[in-house]
Amino acid sequence: MAKVHVTDVVLRDGHQSLIATRMRTDDMLPICSQLDSVGFWSLEAWGGATFDACVRYLREDPWERLKKLRKALPNSRIQMLLRGQNLLGYRHYSDDVVRAFVQKSADNGIDVFRIFDAMNDMRNLKVSIEAVKAVGKHAEGTISYTTSPVHDIPYFVNLAKELESFGCDTIAIKDMASLLTPQVTGDLVKAIRAETSLPIHLHAHATSGLASMSILRAVDNGVSIVDGCISSFAEGASLPTTESIVAALKGTEYDTGLDIALLQEISAYFREVRKKYWQFESDFTGVDTRVLVNQVPGGMISNLSNQLKEQGALDRMDEVLDEIPRVREDLGFPPLVTPTSQIVGTQAVLNVMTGARYKSVTNEVKNYLLGHYGKSPSTVNADVRSLAVGNANVIDCRPADLLHAELDKLRNEVEGLAKSEEDVLTYAMFPDLAKTFLQERNAGSLKPEALLSKDAVTTSASRYAPSEFNVTLHGETFHIKLTGSGHHGEEQRPFYVSVDGVAEEVVVETLSEIEVSGAQNGNSESKKKSSSSSNGSGRPRPSHPGCVTTAMPGTIVDVKVNVGDKVSAGDAVLVIEAMKMENEIQASKTGVVVAIHVKKGDTVTPDEALLEIQPD
Ligand code: CO
Repeated sequence: MAKVHVTDVVLRDGHQSLIATRMRTDDMLPICSQLDSVGFWSLEAWGGATFDACVRYLREDPWERLKKLRKALPNSRIQMLLRGQNLLGYRHYSDDVVRAFVQKSADNGIDVFRIFDAMNDMRNLKVSIEAVKAVGKHAEGTISYTTSPVHDIPYFVNLAKELESFGCDTIAIKDMASLLTPQVTGDLVKAIRAETSLPIHLHAHATSGLASMSILRAVDNGVSIVDGCISSFAEGASLPTTESIVAALKGTEYDTGLDIALLQEISAYFREVRKKYWQFESDFTGVDTRVLVNQVPGGMISNLSNQLKEQGALDRMDEVLDEIPRVREDLGFPPLVTPTSQIVGTQAVLNVMTGARYKSVTNEVKNYLLGHYGKSPSTVNADVRSLAVGNANVIDCRPADLLHAELDKLRNEVEGLAKSEEDVLTYAMFPDLAKTFLQERNAGSLKPEALLSKDAVTTSASRYAPSEFNVTLHGETFHIKLTGSGHHGEEQRPFYVSVDGVAEEVVVETLSEIEVSGAQNGNSESKKKSSSSSNGSGRPRPSHPGCVTTAMPGTIVDVKVNVGDKVSAGDAVLVIEAMKMENEIQASKTGVVVAIHVKKGDTVTPDEALLEIQPD
């Protein structure tokens, strides 16, 4: 038995789990020299959600963040979380993109690659593990822990053996949903150690309240490295507290040797930082034992609650949490982690919001059912599959085997915009977002989303105001949308508002202006979209059965028909992106398209007629 090592996740999972991944690089750098001197086994600092949030909300170049952290943490291993063949995106990439991404991540400062696959389909990890070894870095093969009738200890031990055979340096047990009990943790660590010779690294979220107990059992059974988070970003949906782990093991044979006083100094710094981001705190804090029933990981709860809040549907959260396990069973019990957590979560939201299960099916669920994410742990529900994809061909090979090399094609697509190979890879991860991002960055006009000052918000109820919402007054519902604002006056400022599609002008006194100017919890991108679509805000309300509507607010990504086209009820006429998932909207009636009220890029909401069909 030997000393236990600690990885701290404050720069990645801590703020991802607790403040929707919003921490800015400028808030990380001032404390890096202290973090660097602690002696952690590694500092996890980069991953899919941090990369996404940098581009989408913070308008920071994620590669620049990595370079700055590398410089500021000269003595520490920097660790990243990589979604195997999905890299940091939401689809499978061809092998040449995987190799290029690993190469550039290593070049810019990543030492440890923690690699997982949402399905635990080890074929999806193989190429990235080989790529990490080829650039001489540390490959940590990861088992995504979950519970289901098929997920028992022998199942996970087999995964660990496979990871060892791929050449991994360590094995991580990733319990993103906080499902590990102390007993299972002990048994699992012991069983993996008996069958493999690699050090084991435990990543267990604190959501359910079990993780710190599980860590002790893991340590007793020979785990080598445990993940914790500095206390001011620990517990709840995040990880157990680093200082407490250090204190618990102090003076034992497992003593981490870390300095608690130094850790507390770091914690005090982050406690102040966290206050700035209060508007992103999840409504679900503390211990949430519902996770032991619904198995929804912390990051997913925090995202779902933010997304439902933006849609004014936070009151449907419990229904969504009940629907998630049912969807998961239909899909053959995938672990809930990106991207399967989004795939299952969004379908569950659709099943609840449309009022009929699988009435509307996202493209991602269709692809999942066709085998394009890999092999599901257990068989999928055949009825749901035939409902969603008919008898289309289901594949059983490694999904990336069907992909042609695509790096050159991606390079060509962003020629002129991309200034480096890193830019090409940013584009590969988030094509639409990245184009705007690179344009603005090249023009020097990147602006992060606004942080609201707590003192400036006049009512405690409005933690942030949405730009679009329904107001119900004496039983009648009005659809209010902020479409623009005039210049700052001395004491007054005009705002342009549409009420049920009719434009109004209101004058707001400066006192409450701050509430409204911080109105977009979202990003400058959605700001632009809503103002550009405001010309079209005369979109009518649905008034007859031929009106096609959306179940969820989102952005139109494709209009599949033209005025005059004949359509049959159920034909896909529009494609909308909502909650990061694409979803087809079907014709409500058989007939002729007589009006189209949307175009690509428009933001739409449920009580608008998007398209009108004259029924036969
Ligand atoms: Co995590």
